[in-house]
Amino acid sequence: MDLWGSFSRLKHFMEYLPHSVFAADRTGRIVEVNEVLLRATGYAREELLNRPFFHIIPYRGTIGQLHSELKAIEEESSGLAEVEYCSKEGKLAKSKAMIVIPQAEPPLYMVNLFDLNKCVYYNLLEKVLAQIIAEANLGFVVVSAQGTIVEISQMACKLLGLERSRILNLHLDQAFAGVPEEHRLIKRELLEGVKMQNKAMSWTNNSQRYELLVDSETLYDEQGQVMGAYVLFKDVTNMRSFDQKIERNDRLAMIGQIAAGTAHEIRNPLTSIKGFLQMFQQSFAESGMERERAYTEIMLTEINRINALVSEFLLLSKPRDVQYRMVDLNTVFEEILPIVESQALLHGIDLDYSSRGQLPMVVGDAELLKQVFLNICKNGIEAMGSEGTLSIHHHIDEERDMVSIDIHDTGPGIPLYVIDKIFDPFFTTKEEGTGLGLAVCQKIIHDVGGQIRVSSKGYGTTFHILLPYI
Ligand SMILES: Nc1ncnc2c1ncn2[C@@H]1O[C@H](COP(=O)(O)OP(=O)(O)OP(=O)(O)O)[C@@H](O)[C@H]1O
Ligand SMILES: [Mg+2]
Repeated sequence: MDLWGSFSRLKHFMEYLPHSVFAADRTGRIVEVNEVLLRATGYAREELLNRPFFHIIPYRGTIGQLHSELKAIEEESSGLAEVEYCSKEGKLAKSKAMIVIPQAEPPLYMVNLFDLNKCVYYNLLEKVLAQIIAEANLGFVVVSAQGTIVEISQMACKLLGLERSRILNLHLDQAFAGVPEEHRLIKRELLEGVKMQNKAMSWTNNSQRYELLVDSETLYDEQGQVMGAYVLFKDVTNMRSFDQKIERNDRLAMIGQIAAGTAHEIRNPLTSIKGFLQMFQQSFAESGMERERAYTEIMLTEINRINALVSEFLLLSKPRDVQYRMVDLNTVFEEILPIVESQALLHGIDLDYSSRGQLPMVVGDAELLKQVFLNICKNGIEAMGSEGTLSIHHHIDEERDMVSIDIHDTGPGIPLYVIDKIFDPFFTTKEEGTGLGLAVCQKIIHDVGGQIRVSSKGYGTTFHILLPYI
């Protein structure tokens, strides 16, 4: 007989047995063990292979003697004999046992220990399961073959918006009632052998959107019948937004490079066009050509607009190591308030500035900081239309050790699907907007080590400009 063929078949057979088995050769050396035995004794396979069998059964004789002894008892009592066995920790216990000698060359003793099937780490594994279920960051669901939820972790309950006690043993169709099959977190096909690995899925509950990474698999019994399935998932919402941030920074850097390369090329010809236009304007005025003079005036305003745009472009591309000075924020606001006030007045909007004379010193470029506050006030006024209040307050953010200038408007707020994009260059919802305002603000504030945050819940919007202060 082909020895290895039969040996590997024997090994395979041992794995299928529900109780502990080991095979020993004629000298009593262990040549194979099954997994149930490893789990039950706590030994690693390598710790048992080639070792004498008395590591498992503390018997003083040879394996042949043990075989004969067990057989004799069996015949005498017409039942299985019991042997003492020993776990790795040295615990002794008894188990019904039977030794068979399968047809193999050289002969092998296959020692079956029928009562040895409980895992010594059973309690530990149970503990792990309990921990996974309580774990706040891991979604874990076990589904039976019939499609009922047998086990579910707290996080998964939270995601589904259901209490654990209400969801246990509930059928999937009930748990996901009202959710179309293709949008379900746990689909029925899970019980049909469909396997998922690191599949990105999103799930929305109570207007909160979760980005998930899902693994799932069908579980089969020894006969190949479906026993159930499990689903494991991790909430990666924050990681995804981190990825998006990196992507966005790459994009910003690229725009910056393009801006730096083209801005000057645009500006130079503009300067000469502007110069000649000014000459024309004067000549037209002198020769009384009023209509032509008005046209050149429009052309000049348009050129100024292009120039302003190019300046913003350049700001985006400026390298980080600019020289900064100490800046008194109070002076910055005293200088921009008249502009903001006049714009507010024009739109019928009230201005509420409560920080007069109380702002700290910061490090930065006064002109650039003015631009930041002006841009944000301008956005607020534009958002409110023809009535409302623009408030400018400040507070100290103790946690971050920064001063926070809070600019609040009573406008319509920023919808959720827009808020992620408002700092992107060229993102605008305005017909006349360039979409560079906030991108430039963010760059200026980041360059001095500050942050811009926006909160907009329902009505009204607040921009918090956080700056390190002295
Ligand atoms: N206070 C606000 N209330 C509501 N939406 C706002 C507010 N501030 C900004 N936004 C939104 O963010 C978008 C981007 O603003 P940003 O200042 O970058 O560009 P813009 O104002 O559209 O154009 P520009 O500043 O060049 O005039 C705006 O188009 C608007 O949709
Ligand atoms: Mg703007």
